[in-house]
Amino acid sequence: MKRVVSGIKPSGTLTLGNYIGAIKQFVNLQSTLSDYEFFLFVADLHAITVPQEAAVLRKRSRDVAAMYLAAGVDPNRTVLFLQSEVKEHAELGYLLQCSTYMGELERMTQYKDKVRVKKETGITAALFTYPVLMAADIIMYDPEFVPVGDDQKQHLELTRDIAIRFNNKYGDFFTIPEPLIPTIGSRIMDLQDVSKKMSKSDESDKGAITLYDDFETIHRKIRSAVTDSIGIMKYDPIKQPGLANLITIYAVIGHMDPEEVVTKYQGQGYAQFKDDLAVLVANELGTLQNRYHEIIDSGTLDAILDSGREKAHEYAFRKVEKCKRKIGLGRIKK
Ligand code: TYM
Repeated sequence: MKRVVSGIKPSGTLTLGNYIGAIKQFVNLQSTLSDYEFFLFVADLHAITVPQEAAVLRKRSRDVAAMYLAAGVDPNRTVLFLQSEVKEHAELGYLLQCSTYMGELERMTQYKDKVRVKKETGITAALFTYPVLMAADIIMYDPEFVPVGDDQKQHLELTRDIAIRFNNKYGDFFTIPEPLIPTIGSRIMDLQDVSKKMSKSDESDKGAITLYDDFETIHRKIRSAVTDSIGIMKYDPIKQPGLANLITIYAVIGHMDPEEVVTKYQGQGYAQFKDDLAVLVANELGTLQNRYHEIIDSGTLDAILDSGREKAHEYAFRKVEKCKRKIGLGRIKK
């Protein structure tokens, strides 16, 4: 059976970037790749690479699972679980650390960026080895595809390198996964600072639309989104990056090409476009939020996560046992 695997870290409030770059893409694949099996998890072990408050983290993990379901993840098609409830993720992470080099991890740009910001608070060892755990999350399930946003590309390349190296040493064992990065919307930018991606861990909330925002908040954020003084509707990510970012959001949510959006608003100022975009986004998120509220308070969420944990564990346990034997761990069989 061919498989698709992905995950999201419950490290902050989910944003429109996560929704467009990862969640929406996953849900689309689920309805188009009918002969595939889907594994999707809440990457809570990844969240604790930076300080977290226990109660907040537990709530966020549940929220991410509920949002996945609200967005259309179908528990009959997708094995949905919490990463920390399938212990083999940490175990395989360790095994793979033994075939990963310091130099490879030192090159990871996300790590370098985080180190720059977090120098004062200290950097955990787990933040450094994070991409190896991510590789374990993925190759554990032998997927063909991993739908992610653009910022995870380098981690996926490392995952492939680790898998290929393991296979070369121990014989064909892991499937080499392909990242699936959407052609539009793979990197939604911050609305205030278009040089950085929209991020859930960001403290200033003006630049990020969260999946919990109401119409007024969305409207205010989009209205104040940085554009340019050129004043001409054009999709030009180099010269008009702020506008291009908004056009991208419109295109993905409105199921259009960026050029179609440009044509629709040709000759108009940015204000009307921004007002319409706010309505479009608020409608999409409104539907999502209604479903989220139904799910978060229902008993079915726990039942889904229980069943996901069992199914994921069944696969993961067998894979890790085989992996350990390949490496030479365990006793001699008599
Ligand atoms: P995380 O939690 O930072 O992001 C989750 C997903 O959202 C995408 N994304 C974006 N896409 C477009 N525009 C943005 N501004 C934007 N911000 C985030 C990310 O690319 C990602 O697909 N390490 C991962 C979580 C993870 C994982 C995995 C993913 C752990 N193990 C295995 C896939 C497979 C992370 O921190 O993503």
